[in-house]
Amino acid sequence: MSTPADALDVESLTIAYGSAAASVIDVSLRVGQGEIVGVIGESGSGKSSIALAMMGLLPDSARVTATRMRVGGTEMKDATERDWAEVRGATASMVFQEPMSALNPCMRIGAQIAEVLRIHGAADKRRARARALEILKLVRMPDAERRLDYYPHQLSGGQRQRVVIAIAVAAGPALLVADEPTTALDVTVQAQILALIRTLRDETGMGVLFISHDLGVIDQLCERVAVMYRGRVVESGASQRVLAEPRHPYTRALLESIPRPSVPPRTSLAVIPADNDFAEIPPELEEAS
Ligand SMILES: Nc1ncnc2c1ncn2[C@@H]1O[C@H](COP(=O)(O)OP(=O)(O)OP(=O)(O)O)[C@@H](O)[C@H]1O
Ligand SMILES: [Mg+2]
Repeated sequence: MSTPADALDVESLTIAYGSAAASVIDVSLRVGQGEIVGVIGESGSGKSSIALAMMGLLPDSARVTATRMRVGGTEMKDATERDWAEVRGATASMVFQEPMSALNPCMRIGAQIAEVLRIHGAADKRRARARALEILKLVRMPDAERRLDYYPHQLSGGQRQRVVIAIAVAAGPALLVADEPTTALDVTVQAQILALIRTLRDETGMGVLFISHDLGVIDQLCERVAVMYRGRVVESGASQRVLAEPRHPYTRALLESIPRPSVPPRTSLAVIPADNDFAEIPPELEEAS
């Protein structure tokens, strides 16, 4: 059952680029308020396509159909670019993998956060700097007062991703879509950013759609997970259940292909063969969410 308050409620989403076969097929996903839902799957399985569709950011060549696509309670399935412009950044915002590409290299970070606040009417010009400082503190930026006047290149990768997250949460969105936001960071910084996303979720009550190819990250962060394979969700459910008792052969293969401390050294890892055809197995394993 869905409620209007869900951060995200998508039913039967299909995405096809140009005349190619669909890259995302009949995908349904729900993210409740304050919930972190993971999407996992191999490269090319359609994860980023889903993320971009939730933000109205797919290229014109993409044909998108869905029976329902509610973002922060607003039905967006037939939305125009103008409708999306109202939702993007305000109701839903996105964090990408590479923080540098999301920031303006020539603008101080305080000014970049202030600009977002003004665009969304969240603060007037006079208040914007003070509010930008509050938001930098919210994302636990060390020495935030001083860093307001830094340019992106003066920050570390992890600090830059904190700024990107600050910009994403500045207007208090109902939904945060994070597409592999820690992949470019080293393991220690990755853990800090994951902890930050969890803290922000706790403090703001936003829902998070978290895309990753890393089962460890899903295990640490997500209450529920959807496993994608060749454009379809082949298995979904509580992360603990899916990781402990995977029902779909692809999920099992995914789990067997990661190194685990309990496995004796020099045991070879299972490899998922390139010509595998898990998609042949009927996806009857989805759990009602
Ligand atoms: N702009 C585009 N034009 C044409 N095809 C695209 C476009 N973007 C993605 N695709 C295709 O859609 C499929 C899914 O791509 P997508 O980027 O969603 O996968 P992904 O799961 O995010 O992969 P990765 O883990 O590598 O990021 C791929 O076959 C890809 O080639
Ligand atoms: Mg991707």
